[in-house]
Amino acid sequence: MVLAFLNQKGGVGKTTLAVHVAAALTRHRAKVLLIDADPQGSALDWAACRVAAVLFPVIGFPKATLHKEIPAHLPHYDHILIDGPPRVNDLARSAIMAADVVVIPVQPSPYDVWAAKDIVDLIGEAAIYHEAIKSAFVINRRIVNTAIGRDVAEALAGYNIPVLSAHISQRVAFAESAATGSTVLENDPTSQASREIMALAEELLDFDTESGR
Ligand SMILES: Nc1ncnc2c1ncn2[C@@H]1O[C@H](COP(=O)(O)OP(=O)(O)OP(=O)(O)O)[C@@H](O)[C@H]1O
Ligand SMILES: [Mg+2]
Repeated sequence: MVLAFLNQKGGVGKTTLAVHVAAALTRHRAKVLLIDADPQGSALDWAACRVAAVLFPVIGFPKATLHKEIPAHLPHYDHILIDGPPRVNDLARSAIMAADVVVIPVQPSPYDVWAAKDIVDLIGEAAIYHEAIKSAFVINRRIVNTAIGRDVAEALAGYNIPVLSAHISQRVAFAESAATGSTVLENDPTSQASREIMALAEELLDFDTESGR
């Protein structure tokens, strides 16, 4: 499957979730490619400071011709993940055209709920050309033991895009793992952070194969 992690809002967790879901998918011996479509090159930076063996290749392609580039890679990989840029609409549009599933990370804050309108609108426009496109919100940085995650899920329901039941909590382990080009899955595979990521990867695999939507 081709998964694009997109949100025009910056700092919501696109790179963190793309890297971690990519790592989780390799656990099933799947061949995974991560395309860094962000001119900031954060996923490339992550790969560059990695000490451990490569889990999956990361290539940079921050161009609005991404949807033309991806088909050439499809025969070689089970899953291709795209880490999208904030703001740049033409890149996000190209990523949507290339994707089977658009994953929209949102933080549990009303600002994030309002800001999601931009990406929801882009997906709506792209759906005219790419009818089969599926999309889902994933709540990231949920504060453990608070109700706000639930409130945000209800607020997001107004967009007519499903909210995945897997959500990712706020944990310093994510920032710590990034500093060494690692992932929480490698650092502590039995941690809550790892479990949440594995549950997200499983749900995305199911979501991709579900019919409808
Ligand atoms: N679940 C989490 N728990 C703790 N920290 C997190 C979590 N998710 C992301 N972060 C941290 O938040 C910051 C922003 O995350 P990230 O870079 O993944 O967002 P982004 O959407 O890719 O940002 P940009 O729009 O700039 O590309 C990073 O420092 C990251 O380590
Ligand atoms: Mg990023």
